[in-house]
Amino acid sequence: MMNELILAIESSCDDSSLALMDIKTYELQYYSKISQEIQHAKYGGVVPELAARLHTKALPDMLEKITPFFSDIKAVAVTNEPGLSVSLASGVAMAKSIALSLNLPLIAINHLIGHIYSLFLDTKEEFPMGVLLVSGGHTMILYIDENSNIDILAKTSDDSFGESFDKVAKMMGFGYPGGVIIENLAKNGDDKSYSFTVPLLHDKRLQYSFSGLKNQVRLVVENLNNPTLKDYENIAASFQKTACMHICDKLEKIFSIYKFKKFGVVGGASANILLRSNIEKICSKYNSNLYLAPLKFCSDNAAMIARAAVIKYKNNNFTDINNIQINPKSKNFCIN
Ligand code: KG4
Ligand code: ZN
Repeated sequence: MMNELILAIESSCDDSSLALMDIKTYELQYYSKISQEIQHAKYGGVVPELAARLHTKALPDMLEKITPFFSDIKAVAVTNEPGLSVSLASGVAMAKSIALSLNLPLIAINHLIGHIYSLFLDTKEEFPMGVLLVSGGHTMILYIDENSNIDILAKTSDDSFGESFDKVAKMMGFGYPGGVIIENLAKNGDDKSYSFTVPLLHDKRLQYSFSGLKNQVRLVVENLNNPTLKDYENIAASFQKTACMHICDKLEKIFSIYKFKKFGVVGGASANILLRSNIEKICSKYNSNLYLAPLKFCSDNAAMIARAAVIKYKNNNFTDINNIQINPKSKNFCIN
């Protein structure tokens, strides 16, 4: 029997990824990801031009591996928003040329919708549910209703959760991305060494802010005298605890209002173990079922893009190949 596959391309930031997903069974027939973390590490963050150049090399290399599947592909999906414009452009250019040459429809996918679908890679989606999205570019709490409409209940007014980890790692002289670095340092640190203030703790607004916390850490780091690894471990542990408390303080307030029956945590930073265990406690207090993506698919990947594209494919929601837009700062997103 012939397979019916969606080819998905993800290149919104510093990961080049390709996936082939069976439209009926959600089975991944091919999955590959080339991360650029090492190349960006020495700059302490993603350098857009370097990212674009690396995508332009990695994506065609991966594409070569899937030529045997070409006749089974029914549509080409690509992340077109939000992200770094030059990175998005690499993926969109390749998607357009494949769609043109194989005469296939094109499906544009919002990266954040992709992250939501990392919860349902091989199963049917289960809305309504609340979702916390924590990545390098975003921190928001969403409510997705039974018709897949999305409401933003809270978001950050400045840095994102993941970005604050990146910046704290950078200011202590460690590499990029900072999430895993800080989490590993924190394992050997004492989280009571520094008492950082939890942002907006007595503020009623359902809003996040990480730049003040980052600056509290900066002051401590700048005043260290001959810092040792132990100092950094203690700072990492204290910072991580406070950042997770900030997420959970607002999250618990939202839970007390919305009483989600189901709750998902997605995005690269959802791999953070302390964050996961704090959210587990909130979910069990509110009798909510917690949904987490497999660790491998928390960070950016094309499998989640393919899965989100299955919905649009089934709804015949295709994107005009001559009109596909790249929206680096897109703020609107919908599932269908
Ligand atoms: O979703 P993602 O791969 O890319 C974006 O869409 O931004 O998320 C990457 C972000 C980075 O800021 C990274 O430092 C953070 O997620 N991150 C973590 C952890 N793993 C990745 N932050 C905290 N703890 C982690 N274990
Ligand atoms: Zn992402």
